[in-house]
Amino acid sequence: METVVRWGVVGLGRIAHKFAQDLALFEDAELVAVGSRSLKNAHHFASQHGAREAFDSYEAVWTHPDVDIVYVATPHHQHAELSKAALAHGKHVLCEKPAAINTKESASIIGAAQAADRFFMEALWSRFNPVLSEVIDRVRNGDIGTVRHVQADFSFVMPAVEGSRTHDPLQGGGSLLDVGIYPLFLAYVVLGMPETVQASMIRHASGVDDQMAVVLGYERALATAYCGFASPSGMEATIGGEDGRILIHPVWHEADAYSLMGNGKWDGQRITRSKTGHGLYHEIAACHEALREGLRESPTWTHSDSLNLMAIMDRVRDAVGLIYPSET
Ligand SMILES: NC(=O)c1ccc[n+]([C@@H]2O[C@H](COP(=O)([O-])OP(=O)(O)OC[C@H]3O[C@@H](n4cnc5c(N)ncnc54)[C@H](OP(=O)(O)O)[C@@H]3O)[C@@H](O)[C@H]2O)c1
Repeated sequence: METVVRWGVVGLGRIAHKFAQDLALFEDAELVAVGSRSLKNAHHFASQHGAREAFDSYEAVWTHPDVDIVYVATPHHQHAELSKAALAHGKHVLCEKPAAINTKESASIIGAAQAADRFFMEALWSRFNPVLSEVIDRVRNGDIGTVRHVQADFSFVMPAVEGSRTHDPLQGGGSLLDVGIYPLFLAYVVLGMPETVQASMIRHASGVDDQMAVVLGYERALATAYCGFASPSGMEATIGGEDGRILIHPVWHEADAYSLMGNGKWDGQRITRSKTGHGLYHEIAACHEALREGLRESPTWTHSDSLNLMAIMDRVRDAVGLIYPSET
């Protein structure tokens, strides 16, 4: 690996812009190539973010000789295909969450990464957020005792605009895969794989989930998760242990602060940990570190973590009968 990590980006939408802004904060990274379905969009994006070259195809990015790692920022249904294409051309890959739409697809990406001997990571940026990293460490260190409950929500009003990826079954739309992944991620990193998965859904006219409530059952703990596109929620998360509670302040999946509650030792103490840039900075830094160390997966958000989280989401969808067209 060169000293400078050379990036390519495919799918130049909302998150790709934020990603490019955070990438620009690194002196040891270069945005080499960007690919869009439209040359005009690619040129616009390249001029905004200082990319060296702009293309009207995604393929041109992963066949570019100077690109080390490709960031896939397209709708969900394309993640597996595009990640595997980039890996097959010898590129490392950071792919937006969810890594794919189901476990079978996710496993096929990881198999492709192993076969190509390249790095692959799902861009589960919250795992690298400084507040969440510290909270996870504290919980794992036993600071609140045995965890008995995790609760998190992620809901806001997302209108169903014609053709938009968020409500389109063909693009892997729906609130679960788009935002429900975050509350389930928190339950998973704290409590691991659940024994039982129960869920209830309000389906949108388009066929995808507009609202979803999930209860994960463990031997001596419960996790409750809510996501949706129909109404705003508090965007708070709480982790309750036998010796205290941690409250992750809104917007919890990109938090700047948490509080330790319900314990005489630290009751009400608010702890602030600033994120850098939009917060995508931290997952980018993790990729750079992994590449410089020659790793093929992140020790912080591993291939198994991606597969396990996707398996939980598969079970949620099984529980409510939510099937994507590509799965029939
Ligand atoms: N928005 C966020 O805050 C956020 C945060 C974290 C993660 N994510 C994840 O990032 C990914 C992209 O989300 P986004 O919000 O950036 O979506 P977006 O604004 O709709 O952008 C997605 C881009 O993918 C490309 N694309 C390829 N095929 C497409 C198709 N059939 N329909 C629409 N776009 C297509 C388009 O780029 P070109 O026209 O340039 O090819 C489009 O601009 C998703 O996996 C999402 O879950 C989003």
